[in-house]
Amino acid sequence: MILVTGGTGLLGSHLLFDLVSSGKPVRAIKRKTSNTAAVKKVFSYYSGKADELFGKIEWVDADIMDFVAMDDALEGIDYVYHAGAVVSFYPRDHKAMLTVNIEGTANLVNLCIARKIKKFCYVSSVAVLGRAVNDGVSDETTYWQPSKKNSVYGQSKYGAEREIWRGIEEGLNAFIVNPSVILGPGFWDGGNSGLFSLVWKGLKYYTRGVNGYVDVRDVARAMIQLMESDISKERFIVSSENCSYQQVFEYMGKYLGKPAPSINVPNAMTGIAWRVETVLSFIMRRLPEVTKEMATTTTMVYTYSNEKIKKAIGFEFKPVEQSIKEISEIFLKDHSGGK
Ligand SMILES: NC(=O)c1ccc[n+]([C@@H]2O[C@H](COP(=O)([O-])OP(=O)(O)OC[C@H]3O[C@@H](n4cnc5c(N)ncnc54)[C@H](OP(=O)(O)O)[C@@H]3O)[C@@H](O)[C@H]2O)c1
Repeated sequence: MILVTGGTGLLGSHLLFDLVSSGKPVRAIKRKTSNTAAVKKVFSYYSGKADELFGKIEWVDADIMDFVAMDDALEGIDYVYHAGAVVSFYPRDHKAMLTVNIEGTANLVNLCIARKIKKFCYVSSVAVLGRAVNDGVSDETTYWQPSKKNSVYGQSKYGAEREIWRGIEEGLNAFIVNPSVILGPGFWDGGNSGLFSLVWKGLKYYTRGVNGYVDVRDVARAMIQLMESDISKERFIVSSENCSYQQVFEYMGKYLGKPAPSINVPNAMTGIAWRVETVLSFIMRRLPEVTKEMATTTTMVYTYSNEKIKKAIGFEFKPVEQSIKEISEIFLKDHSGGK
């Protein structure tokens, strides 16, 4: 039996779809506040039997921080996919992010060692690679470097990845995937899926930054292929292409039938924007639309090599334009009654 954490999120819901579609027995954790309807919605994008497939998942209530509930969730489990994490650039989430992502992962590693789990997949991020290196291509041997430019999210994923390497030293049969920016449908109000909503609503501005991008279905497929291989004690960048934000927004505009953002925001302006936005959000008691970390990330040039996973398992990635085309088609169906 397989255990999935983070199954109610963008990546986890797609992973669950692939696992149950291929007939594998799956248990997934959720919390009382989790939105499992979003998972069923994701299933409906790819299958006419969404309800039936969703019904095959054994859901158990467990917070990653609840050691006892996680231990119970591991009863009878052979394989673990750990995709659950707090993913945020908001300062108010920093403490929870560090705790859940690092301590939660450490606890799960300890439980999996004690229970002699057969194989463990950890979803890390390219944010743990040497992000201080600007303009160079990062690969799996590009190591974390302390830098003021590292986000707290990056710090939390780096701390979590260290727990996996520690677990491997203590006998855990594990591997790590490091996805770049994951593009996928269904969670239109936030995260990267929210970029489609922004372009749909007429986003005018773009920054000069470059980043790696990957289709969510490719990430799920890579995780399953690596889990079913003999490979362990390795990490793999999972990234299709390096693209500028301008290019990505152009693709989104093209396939959503909206004008692409055309006004470049100079790097110095993003620094002003997040400061003004911080003050406004404080006065108006709302979440800032631009944070310091968002402003920094979107102006940097980060590029990644995907050669290792291509060579290791012959993996082929969907081109970013194709991903954006397919996700835009789903977006348009979901918003067919909208403006
Ligand atoms: N999105 C990206 O571009 C990207 C890129 C690289 C790596 N990653 C990594 O990929 C993984 C999945 O990301 P995602 O984009 O799918 O994130 P997401 O949509 O925000 O989903 C996060 C998941 O983690 C769960 N979670 C958070 N805190 C939890 C807790 N205390 N106990 C139990 N579950 C908890 C959430 O459950 P609830 O539904 O209950 O909140 C949700 O299922 C994460 O590890 C992330 O760091 C993401």
